[in-house]
Amino acid sequence: MQDLQWYPGHMTKARRMMEENKKLVDLVIEILDARIPLSSRNPDIDSLTKGKARIVILAKTDLADPAATKAFLSWFASQGVTPIAVDARQKKSLDRIRDAVKSACREKMERDRKRGILNRPVRAMVLGIPNVGKSTLINSMAGRASAKTGNKPGVTKGKQWICVTFRQGKEVLSVELLDTPGILWPKFEDREVGVRLALCGSIREEILDEKELACSLISLLLADYPEAFNSRYGKEGEDFRNILEETVEGTGHTVVDQREAALHRVLAKIAENRNFLSKGQTFDEGRAAHLLIDEFQGGKIGRITLDHVPERDETKTEAE
Ligand code: G4P
Repeated sequence: MQDLQWYPGHMTKARRMMEENKKLVDLVIEILDARIPLSSRNPDIDSLTKGKARIVILAKTDLADPAATKAFLSWFASQGVTPIAVDARQKKSLDRIRDAVKSACREKMERDRKRGILNRPVRAMVLGIPNVGKSTLINSMAGRASAKTGNKPGVTKGKQWICVTFRQGKEVLSVELLDTPGILWPKFEDREVGVRLALCGSIREEILDEKELACSLISLLLADYPEAFNSRYGKEGEDFRNILEETVEGTGHTVVDQREAALHRVLAKIAENRNFLSKGQTFDEGRAAHLLIDEFQGGKIGRITLDHVPERDETKTEAE
């Protein structure tokens, strides 16, 4: 289950571009999807950004479960990385970004100040896996009193920088942001991670069958958000968890097969409730699958987070 589009050419190209751009910046702004803060991390991010100041932004918080976002913010802090949670489309997120940049670059600014350099811009680049909100964030920052600077002496030809000026009282913080974000490859090795990335739109859904993907979504939602799911797709107090508990006797199927079959029955029931009929007068599971994924991505089922804060420190990172 690999998005072949990424291997090996895209990955090598992305890595090369990042290595090149990394040399030009003081600060790396890593963007994660607040609905999947662990699945949307690049496995090599620590080594790729070694030696750089770094801030971590959880974008799409407006779509994520607020309680889970809060738990993730504390968990990341316990790992030595302090992320901020934003809706990348909102200008008001910029104040939080300014504070995070200031705090991450405090040492650099202090060094500059001792050398008598005042207000030298912080050079930054945005990094993240596809569709996580990189361009949106760059555009939000660019919308704020910015100007493209074009080529600069000593800077690799062709790079465009966006100058962003944050003013707070008399204090001015200038950031020069590379206008092209660095695209990181997601982690594919774990099927569960792949499913979550596809559900959140970071890898192309077509690499997984849409019905399989919808079944995985049903399973995740009925485990963590049963009320939201039942009230959107059920009829008159219907609880889809009952379907998952039904076992069909004498089929000779394994537990896994039984579970898979039950998830498909939930999908068929949703098609029935919505009166999605296919040609042969059966219910159209495919259309129900499409609806589920679409509504999840649009936040219509509710504010949902698919990853869980790790119980142990298995994913501990070497935060810098
Ligand atoms: P990328 O550069 O990392 O690939 O991602 P990009 O900014 O293009 O964002 C991908 C999609 O996610 C866009 O939607 C964008 O509007 C949306 N998005 C980005 N940040 C947020 C956020 O914080 N909250 C929400 N709800 N959505 C966000 P799209 O449907 O592809 O395009 P469009 O509808 O904006 O035209």
